[in-house]
Amino acid sequence: MKVLVTGGAGYIGSHTCLELLRQGHDIVVADSLYNAKPEALKRIRELSKRDFQFYEIDIRNEAELERVFAEHAFDCVIHFAGLKAVGESVGLPLKYYDNNVGSTITLCRVMKNNKVKRIIFSSSATVYRPGVLMPVDETAELGCSSPYGWTKFMCEQILRDVVTAYPDWSVVLLRYFNPIGADPSGRIGEDPTGIPNNLLPFVTQTALGRHDKLQIFGNDYATHDGTGVRDYIHVADLADGHVAALQFVMNHKGCEAINLGTGIGYSVLDIVNTFEEVNKVKVPYVISPRRPGDVDAVYAKPDKAKKLLGWEAKRTLDDMCRDSWHWQSNNPQGYQEG
Ligand code: NAD
Ligand code: UFG
Repeated sequence: MKVLVTGGAGYIGSHTCLELLRQGHDIVVADSLYNAKPEALKRIRELSKRDFQFYEIDIRNEAELERVFAEHAFDCVIHFAGLKAVGESVGLPLKYYDNNVGSTITLCRVMKNNKVKRIIFSSSATVYRPGVLMPVDETAELGCSSPYGWTKFMCEQILRDVVTAYPDWSVVLLRYFNPIGADPSGRIGEDPTGIPNNLLPFVTQTALGRHDKLQIFGNDYATHDGTGVRDYIHVADLADGHVAALQFVMNHKGCEAINLGTGIGYSVLDIVNTFEEVNKVKVPYVISPRRPGDVDAVYAKPDKAKKLLGWEAKRTLDDMCRDSWHWQSNNPQGYQEG
């Protein structure tokens, strides 16, 4: 298949591009490089031993996006491009709505003009209403607690409405849980700018000595050890999930929301302990107050992905911790090392 990958230079996009190339698909990447480095693309080429075309564009720019579609006949679009910092979105809602919702509308319009009718969208577990029963399945009530979350909710709704209006479209809304890990080569991985908000990049940077201590946000949650529980999923499993979704959209019409998680919840202390054990490194930590907005536990019921896509997560927490550290220790400054 020939696939346009928006946001393909980013964390999840780069791993998915690599897997698509390894599986023999052709890709074209469109990314503004707002939150990514060209080095990631170079390394995807190096690992896959294949070449592909890259357009450094903001996909809200309709004329530039039209040019990409004029130059290629796509079977499908995988739409990763978006801003993803939950905390930042609270202070900058307009920036988030403009980028995440605006880009999705422009993309759908250009797809429509060019008769491209298949799209796989990066949604998030954050669309589930806080407080819904765990494990959460796709029928659970939706509702968000940040502008970022609402952008995902709105894009999902826009895509559902597009399918209602154009029933020959095929849309898959992939709701990711907590992606961590990296390609086992240690050549591509997560490279956040500034001080990371998410747990794993903070853990790896603390192990490197870049931070004195990890703050564990709360140990009085209703979980097995009091620390927050999440469904961590290896980014390579997510990449496989996208390849499976690509097969699915080629053979189905309509719109499906599908969880991509493991179904297993691990606590912050489980992560720290496993990370230390697998990698033989220390992660000093301190217990701090709860982070506003956090909930006790979030983990998926992953059955629908198995049923519809024939996909399930295979990698273990040991794999996730080992591969995260392999990437970070080989690239202490991320892609800046060149
Ligand atoms: P990322 O920031 O590493 O990748 C996103 C990419 O999109 C970046 O390379 C960025 O430069 C690009 N981009 C952003 N806006 C753009 C625009 N208007 N035009 C062109 N390119 C643009 O993020 P990621 O972790 O790889 O996430 C990919 C997608 O998955 C995002 O939509 C994110 O919201 C979603 N998601 C991520 C997580 C997570 O924890 N990482 C969880 C759930 C959902
Ligand atoms: N945590 C710490 N210390 C840190 C960072 C995080 O203790 O320095 C804890 C959090 O309190 C939480 C867990 O680690 O219990 C995971 O936190 P993350 O920030 O890594 O992830 P979240 O579950 O808060 O959010 C992530 C993404 C969202 C996405 C959501 C989907 O950041 O974009 O998963 O479930 F929407």
